[in-house]
Amino acid sequence: MEPLLCRLGASPRLERALAPLELDAVDPAAPLAGRRVLFAVAVDGGGADPAFFALLRRLRTDPAALAGATVAMVVDGDGELYTKSAAQALALAATQAGAWLPGMPLVEATGSLYNHHIQAANWGMTWEETYFRRVQLLAERLSAFTPPKFQRPKVLLLHASNPGRSNTLALGRAVAARIQDRCDVAELALLNGTVHDCRGCGYRQCLHFAQNATCFYGGALSETVFPAIRESDVLLFLCPNYNDALGANLMALINRLTGLVVRESLGEKYVMGVVASGYSGGDVVARQLLGAMCLNRGAITPPRALLLETAHDPGDALRAPQVQTRLDAFARALTAAACR
Ligand SMILES: Cc1cc2nc3c(=O)[nH]c(=O)nc-3n(C[C@H](O)[C@H](O)[C@H](O)COP(=O)(O)O)c2cc1C
Repeated sequence: MEPLLCRLGASPRLERALAPLELDAVDPAAPLAGRRVLFAVAVDGGGADPAFFALLRRLRTDPAALAGATVAMVVDGDGELYTKSAAQALALAATQAGAWLPGMPLVEATGSLYNHHIQAANWGMTWEETYFRRVQLLAERLSAFTPPKFQRPKVLLLHASNPGRSNTLALGRAVAARIQDRCDVAELALLNGTVHDCRGCGYRQCLHFAQNATCFYGGALSETVFPAIRESDVLLFLCPNYNDALGANLMALINRLTGLVVRESLGEKYVMGVVASGYSGGDVVARQLLGAMCLNRGAITPPRALLLETAHDPGDALRAPQVQTRLDAFARALTAAACR
């Protein structure tokens, strides 16, 4: 099905990128549920256009605004900043409003287009030609996207939490208890330096190790973690908010995933997340997770992929008002997305 084009601001270069697609335009205030929508966002030195923020407000306040929709994004900036932050914010608002996001649902154009230089060299194109080509390919993937379904999805809980105290882990296990009749659930603890952070090898060296299903450091990552991820259909990240970011152990894993994704796509797997914050800022952590795992690493974000809770003291998360209802809804979102 041909996507609709939803403009959030405009710029001459963005219009040139979109023109060959010949998509029908839709107003951001129009009904979007059930549609395929390519959001085209123009960003300048002040950030995104007011139309973008109006859409964010709509998606955040109407949890059915994008029910059953499938969305992707082109974000075009006239400088080097604000493109990624706009895309991450839209990704989080879209999933929580009921949308699917295919893996790698973003084509980003910084002012200089330097972010296309490697692909441009590979394709033998100019940076602008590469940007436009990527927009074309994204629109084709958006048209063709079908979410994978599994008889009994394999769900992997990834965490680095202290089992006796952690709110995030308690929430994750409460989700596991709710889905185990329909899914095979496994848990992987990335504790005590199981995963060193990425060393930043050059691309060729990384590829060389990856071809042997390992990485410079080898160890638990290639022996345990990569095989468990490869086996899984749903990656459920349990994310405590540490200084308004993902914890270092989880981030180390995501950084080291290069060794996996250069060999095989994550495009048939789902990413979901449970975020617990002691005080505030769960949305910031959730955006980071989606940015890393969906926008960059290429896993699919299903509708309502994030459970966000505020809880500090051990046990508080499962004592929070209406938490059982939210856990039920989150577990239903997982099985509705992944189960046949
Ligand atoms: C190193 C560290 C940094 C933290 N930073 C924040 C923070 O920036 N914001 C916040 O709301 N909570 C913060 N917290 C509190 C946790 O998010 C909180 O304990 C929550 O329940 C999730 O952690 P848990 O799963 O380990 O229980 C921090 C906790 C630790 C240990």
